[in-house]
Amino acid sequence: MTNSLDAALTMNASDVVTCIISGQILQVTINNPPVNALGVEVRRGLLAAIAAADANVDVKLVLIVGAGRNFIAGADIREFGKPPLAPSLTEVCNRIEACGKPVLAAIHGAALGGGLEIALASHYRLALSGAKLGLPEVQLGLMPGAGGTQRMPRLIGVKAALDLILSGRHLGAEEALALGLIDRVGRSSDALAEGLAYAQELLATAAPLRRTRDATALADSAANATAIAAARVATAKNARGLFSPLKIIEAVEASFSRSSPQSFEDGLQLERTLFVACMDSPQRAGLIHAFFAERQVLKSPETRAAQPRTLTEVGVVGGGTMGAGIAVALLDAGLSVIMVERDAVALTRGLANVEKVYDGLIAKGRLSAEAKAATMSRFSASLAYASLARVDLVIEAVFEDMAVKQAVFAELDQVCKPGAILATNTSYLDIDAIAASVSRPADVIGLHFFSPANIMKLLEIVVPTGVAPEVVATAFALAQKCRKVPVRAAVCDGFIGNRILAVYRKAADAMMEDGASPYQIDQVLRDFGYPMGPYQVADLAGGDIGWATRKRQAVTRNPNARYVQIADRLCERGWFGQKTGRGYYLYADGARTGTRNPEVEAIISTERERAGIVPRTFTDAEILRRYMAAMINEGANVVHQRIALRPLDVDVALLYGYGFPRYRGGPMHYADTVGLPSVLADIEAYAKEDPLFWQPSPLLVELVARGANFASLNSAE
Ligand code: 3HC
Ligand code: NAI
Repeated sequence: MTNSLDAALTMNASDVVTCIISGQILQVTINNPPVNALGVEVRRGLLAAIAAADANVDVKLVLIVGAGRNFIAGADIREFGKPPLAPSLTEVCNRIEACGKPVLAAIHGAALGGGLEIALASHYRLALSGAKLGLPEVQLGLMPGAGGTQRMPRLIGVKAALDLILSGRHLGAEEALALGLIDRVGRSSDALAEGLAYAQELLATAAPLRRTRDATALADSAANATAIAAARVATAKNARGLFSPLKIIEAVEASFSRSSPQSFEDGLQLERTLFVACMDSPQRAGLIHAFFAERQVLKSPETRAAQPRTLTEVGVVGGGTMGAGIAVALLDAGLSVIMVERDAVALTRGLANVEKVYDGLIAKGRLSAEAKAATMSRFSASLAYASLARVDLVIEAVFEDMAVKQAVFAELDQVCKPGAILATNTSYLDIDAIAASVSRPADVIGLHFFSPANIMKLLEIVVPTGVAPEVVATAFALAQKCRKVPVRAAVCDGFIGNRILAVYRKAADAMMEDGASPYQIDQVLRDFGYPMGPYQVADLAGGDIGWATRKRQAVTRNPNARYVQIADRLCERGWFGQKTGRGYYLYADGARTGTRNPEVEAIISTERERAGIVPRTFTDAEILRRYMAAMINEGANVVHQRIALRPLDVDVALLYGYGFPRYRGGPMHYADTVGLPSVLADIEAYAKEDPLFWQPSPLLVELVARGANFASLNSAE
């Protein structure tokens, strides 16, 4: 190493970027745990390293590698929304590309977002076979902001670039090679060794500087224009309401539509302007909140304190809608599953329910018959509880009836081995009471899956008072195995999600009786970003389920509380929604999308008359405010009563189980963006009409008094 390089490195390289000279190669290592995000110190270090390489005559090639499990996971997301710190990532990428010596990126693990942009700005790229490459900024409400929208199309063409940037999907090394995104795949598991070997070859052949800005995949202008037009059509259809996809298309279009010799710089400049617009959008804040929240939910007092028990063989009691779906989720997680049913007919049906899921995948070409057979070899079914003697965990999914569930738990208590976890999938019942009915309450927990259980991502982990911490930790580990998003909840009627749902549905029903139509309400919520409105969801789920619950709750219902009977009138006619061909909507010939049911409007009119209500009109904005106020207020109650650990747990439950639009971050994050004083003022105004229903949550009142928001509670645990 020469003195001049020593001096340059000592002066400039940061703690997180180290440089070593190896022969003619300057080996630059990024070491910024946990994922080598491109924080300001990394950016400074990279600039310094390239400057040092240019300044040193002995250096003939620069090799960039990442320490730890990844190359670079992208820009440091924690810096977003704060004042920018120089140098920008665009500047760093441009400097790498402008380097007078060839720069080689050797990728292992993740090369995502800005991480891939660093690689794109390098002259040569190699990736190990397990690498994940992608530009996932769109999932954070952003777009590539360091040249990705300009370099990627030049390298792999507009069509392939748009596919990558608009989907945000991760590519494996082989696919990246086939697309021309990288130059070679390293077969070993050592990125540094592969990188050094490739670097030697490049040196031996005097490989030239090869700048991506000069790459020529944009040559076919007709194909470029066609790809842009197709992307516009697809985006209008699929990315409804999202801000950044259209900006992405605009930026990629600029990669070829500007004919001046400075078009690359022009494109970069447009990219920067659009990137800043995305950065300033509330969608970026919502999506990044969701990104961190779904990682925070994994952290609970029990996961910090205890180790999970081993899970290999598991049991499911009940083979109905939920039992079968849960069995599939467990099988897909690689576990061995035994299903127990109450009689031969139900057992046959349970088996058929499981088979149907896999046969559906085979019919769609997404599973082979051999793969199904391999999975089903881990599945067995039985009428005897004794067959559960060896399981590590059993999940009960029988009828929603306390006596039936307690009888099942009594059997499990008899047959299961010591240390086996006894879980219930109950939607509403008191799990403390179920735990109290067995001799081993510390092993009892709630695992509340959502329908269809093999598809829906949310898993509420319901924690009774006496449960052992390692049982809770095991539930979190199970969620991870099943690729579910776990949210910890304490015991109450409906836990987090269903409890909040019950309240905002009541607010919607009250608006319906007061004058709004269910179709207007559904439309307002779809416009807000939900895939479906609440009455479409009711039709999908089946009105009979809610009806049974309402009948059960009738005896304990506060006689002074408003009770809207419209849903009961529908159910009394046998209109349970999609499965009966009619509910709030009509589903002709088994259609899955409904049309307005005029008879429902007549029923609503009659119900208004019966209740002595003179209907009034609701603006769309008022519908949204009331619906959200009800949701936010109950979310605050759930946090206040410690049913949810933090507001972010409520957000994740509603995002993953109830269709809340991800780009709005969840109801508690949304409340912060609206402003809590405004939400509280709405609730106080609505309370003038119905003070029993619209009781401001003590937590909301307290936060407003303190001038604080829900976000301030998210770091409290
Ligand atoms: N910035 C800051 N922190 C990050 C981060 C990033 N880009 N990526 C991950 N982290 C943090 C996580 O929050 C987590 O923190 P915690 O331990 O405090 O909870 C920690 O790193 C580990 O992350 P994961 O738990 O997700 O680790 P995995 O091993 O499961 O996954 C990963 C690793 C695939 C890299 C995944 O973290 C990931 O997908 N990260 C985000 C990648 C991304 O979106 N990059 C684009 C950023 S935007 C950008 O680059 C803009 C540019 O174009 C200008
Ligand atoms: P289901 O009626 O489709 O299935 C229940 C199954 O349990 C039936 O196959 C029945 O034969 C079986 N069963 C009843 N008693 C039994 C016993 N003693 N031993 C063995 N099997 C017995 O009901 P579903 O919808 O699957 O619900 C099951 C549980 O899951 C309920 O607690 C429900 O609240 C809960 N749940 C339901 C959701 C849904 O959307 N359907 C969502 C989340 C939870």
